[in-house]
Amino acid sequence: MKITVIGTGYVGLVTGACFSEMGNNVTCVDVDRKKLEDLKNGILPIYEPGLDGIVIDNYNNGFLHFSDSLKKTIKDASIVFIAVGTPPERGWIC
Ligand SMILES: NC(=O)c1ccc[n+]([C@@H]2O[C@H](COP(=O)([O-])OP(=O)(O)OC[C@H]3O[C@@H](n4cnc5c(N)ncnc54)[C@H](O)[C@@H]3O)[C@@H](O)[C@H]2O)c1
Repeated sequence: MKITVIGTGYVGLVTGACFSEMGNNVTCVDVDRKKLEDLKNGILPIYEPGLDGIVIDNYNNGFLHFSDSLKKTIKDASIVFIAVGTPPERGWIC
């Protein structure tokens, strides 16, 4: 199944990595290009035991992808998870 996860932080990265480990084709999207480049190079922004191995293996095996293009990514997705930050106050627009 094709899955898109928007936001590659604590929630999104773990969600995306675990769904890719289950054999799904997952793309994690983020606006932070530096974070995306680091992830492609196996550098994770957070620490969760075992997460680095899951991310690196699934990225190298083609189950996990990283992108800054939401438009391209959600086109064929069966499921889209939104895991961006919560607006800090009323009236804040993403
Ligand atoms: N971390 C937790 O334990 C936890 C628990 C419950 C709920 N939540 C909720 O889950 C959501 C995500 O939390 P988190 O801790 O993963 O946040 P985070 O700050 O670690 O990650 C959010 C990511 O979203 C990216 N982002 C922001 N706007 C974007 C956009 N328009 N398009 C693409 N990417 C975008 C940021 O660059 C960042 O990488 C929040 O709404 C939070 O309140 C988090």
